[in-house]
Amino acid sequence: MSSLLVDDIGELVTNVPTTGGGPLGLRRDVALLVEAGRVVWIGPARYAPAADRRIDAGGGAVLPGFVDSHAHLVFAGDRAAEFAARMAGEPYTGGGIRTTVGATRAASDDDLRDTVRRLRDEAMRQGTTTMEIKSGYGLTVADEARSLRIAAEVTPETTFLGAHVVPAEYAGRPDDYVGLVCGPMLTAATPYARWVDVFCERGAFDADHARAILTVGQAAGLGLRLHANQLGPGPGVRLGVELGAASVDHCTHLSDADVDALAGSATTDGPTVATLLPGAEFSTRSPYPDARRLLDAGVTVALATDCNPGSSYTSSMPFCVALAVREMRMTPAEAVWAATAGGARALRRTDVGVLRPGTRADLMILDAPSHLHLAYRPGVPLIRQVLHNGVPQCRL
Ligand code: NIG
Ligand code: FE
Repeated sequence: MSSLLVDDIGELVTNVPTTGGGPLGLRRDVALLVEAGRVVWIGPARYAPAADRRIDAGGGAVLPGFVDSHAHLVFAGDRAAEFAARMAGEPYTGGGIRTTVGATRAASDDDLRDTVRRLRDEAMRQGTTTMEIKSGYGLTVADEARSLRIAAEVTPETTFLGAHVVPAEYAGRPDDYVGLVCGPMLTAATPYARWVDVFCERGAFDADHARAILTVGQAAGLGLRLHANQLGPGPGVRLGVELGAASVDHCTHLSDADVDALAGSATTDGPTVATLLPGAEFSTRSPYPDARRLLDAGVTVALATDCNPGSSYTSSMPFCVALAVREMRMTPAEAVWAATAGGARALRRTDVGVLRPGTRADLMILDAPSHLHLAYRPGVPLIRQVLHNGVPQCRL
């Protein structure tokens, strides 16, 4: 079996808390051995075992690959003009989703596949080794099923978001559309989906609709996630906690009761994670969520891109880390943890987001000596190499 040794590591972020290493489990003077796609050994560099191949990290930091737990990659077209209008003062309402739905329905499978793979590859070059991908721009039984089928070609973390908006042909008949989502659409989506999600927001789906969809999705074996409290206050976060969702995402407009619910949340697989998506606030010129308030209350926080053509057309986790530090008062360590281990918690994964013997060899090597540089050097391409399942992705 071929082995690969990563050595000359400036700083290793393990996310396995150690005395003296803080929550990031920082270690120095260590090397890491990979076999069959897994980490099999981490220890003092001077005791590193012989290996078939070696990667010299050149004194750069090594971190777990980013876990981007929220992205909408199955779409056609873009909405650059809508972005320009926003930057000239127009508000974001989510109304543009229907524009993308029209373009997506008209696209061929190959066009959608090309976009998904292009964005997935773009993300990988920026350190993302696990990516959740949602449907939600098809909104017919056939278009939601094919969106998920195409997403499932590149990730096991697929999410059925038939309840993104009520499509134009159901205007004024939201109950009928929710019936379709809960019935034939869910049946067609389930073979390709691990999760079910609802955009619970004024103008999209209310709490009763969200509860109905999540409940039947859960009965069909899907895990729960929710778009909640993005554009205004609402019932989404508390509904997600009540139903045991793995994650409630956006969390931009929270009441004290929402924060208390998140802080007290508990399922057999862990708390409901608050996933913050600062790319969306950046691209819609909106106030950022109050990460400090959540962290200080003891809530588990994840960071993700929300990559989509409307509210956040970025695949860059380093950009989100930098925004979270500068604009949301997260420390660099908190932001790096949230973008790696936090994302893994939001996807209920224990094999990614951390580096220890037995986990996947999903990691990135920086052209910088420490994780601090991800926020300290914003916009700079610092990711020198990415290993996914132990396989180097970048030509050096
Ligand atoms: O997460 N909020 C709903 N869905 C996406 C935006 C989709 C779009 O504008 O096309 C989001 O921000
Ligand atoms: Fe989203």
